[in-house]
Amino acid sequence: MRFETQAIHAGNRPDQTFGALSVPIYQTSTFVFEDVGKTRGYDYSRTANPTRKVLEDTVAQLEGGKAGFAFATGMAAEATVAHLLKPGDHVISGDDVYGGTYRLFQNVVQDFGVECTFLRMDSRERIEDAIRPNTRMLWLETPSNPLLNIVDVEMVADIARRRNILTVADNTFATPYFLRPIEYGVDLVVHSTTKYLNGHCDVVGGAVVTTTDDLTQRIQFLLNAMGTCASPFDCWLVLRGIETLPVRMKQHEENALAVVSFLNGHPEVERVFYPGLDSHPGHEIAKEQMRGFGGVVSFETRRGITAVNAFLKRMEIFSLAESLGGVASLAEYPATMSHASMPEDFRKRAGITDGLIRLSVGLENIDDLIDDLRQALEPS
Ligand SMILES: Cc1ncc(COP(=O)(O)O)c(C=O)c1O
Repeated sequence: MRFETQAIHAGNRPDQTFGALSVPIYQTSTFVFEDVGKTRGYDYSRTANPTRKVLEDTVAQLEGGKAGFAFATGMAAEATVAHLLKPGDHVISGDDVYGGTYRLFQNVVQDFGVECTFLRMDSRERIEDAIRPNTRMLWLETPSNPLLNIVDVEMVADIARRRNILTVADNTFATPYFLRPIEYGVDLVVHSTTKYLNGHCDVVGGAVVTTTDDLTQRIQFLLNAMGTCASPFDCWLVLRGIETLPVRMKQHEENALAVVSFLNGHPEVERVFYPGLDSHPGHEIAKEQMRGFGGVVSFETRRGITAVNAFLKRMEIFSLAESLGGVASLAEYPATMSHASMPEDFRKRAGITDGLIRLSVGLENIDDLIDDLRQALEPS
């Protein structure tokens, strides 16, 4: 099955009881045993749930992995993966990852005796120099949040494989429609399904896709032991979103490209960040490893914070809100919103400046979106 067909038909869909076409929502905590020690495949919804299983199988197939797991949030997925580490281990993460990922490693994982190094993942040498004998995990995000930096997934996976280090890719921004990190050798893919996979801003959720039996067993164990799983209804909403993922992603990108060409060269705009731009430092790698550049565009205003405030207040169609990847266009200010958990000096060193705005370009009519950006950027 090709991607578009998988998005609608993957997973173990046919309903065995009444033949329902839409996956039933098994809104139950527990399942009646047929006999002592004999179930019909499910016993308790924290361990496994039939609705969740369809989502898990679907995401695993779309990513080309072994098994999928659905979590209550993207951070629950990440926290579960972080529990693969043990005290004394070392992890290397990109330095411009989602602020919550930075916070998880810096303020939670380190307290459990795991060392963390954050660096720009665009150079083999820099990554190799940072590797220590106890390095167990490389964590990458591409395109990264909010700067849309590109990581060469194959290069990072190669560095890791030679040293028996796990590679984890956060594929939230690209989605498997544009990038399939497992094809380039990563061991685990994580998602905030809150974003493009769900696509409608009505769920928070996460997912992990594994590539080996060992990782599958370990993640299943951790999910059950830590209780980080998603609810059946949330799984159903994400599944419904995934059915339209391919058409949405195509249109998100088409709209994003139009927004980029409007912003690029606008007198109030200092710089546009989008991997589809020829001038983007990761453009060639993005072109090679992705089949599209996605729907998120960041830009820096020329007149700094004053212009940022005026822009964010004036927007009419773009809403000022956290998150991204939904049908409705959103704008946010990383410095005080998505990346507020990064200390100011770290954030600025990572390139997330006070003039930076991140746009999640939605599926509204593109002329309306451009008109909205034009009027919001008018100098006051
Ligand atoms: C790239 C990325 N990964 C992970 C997360 C965390 O996901 P959630 O908010 O669903 O916990 C986010 C949230 O913004 C994100 O942008």
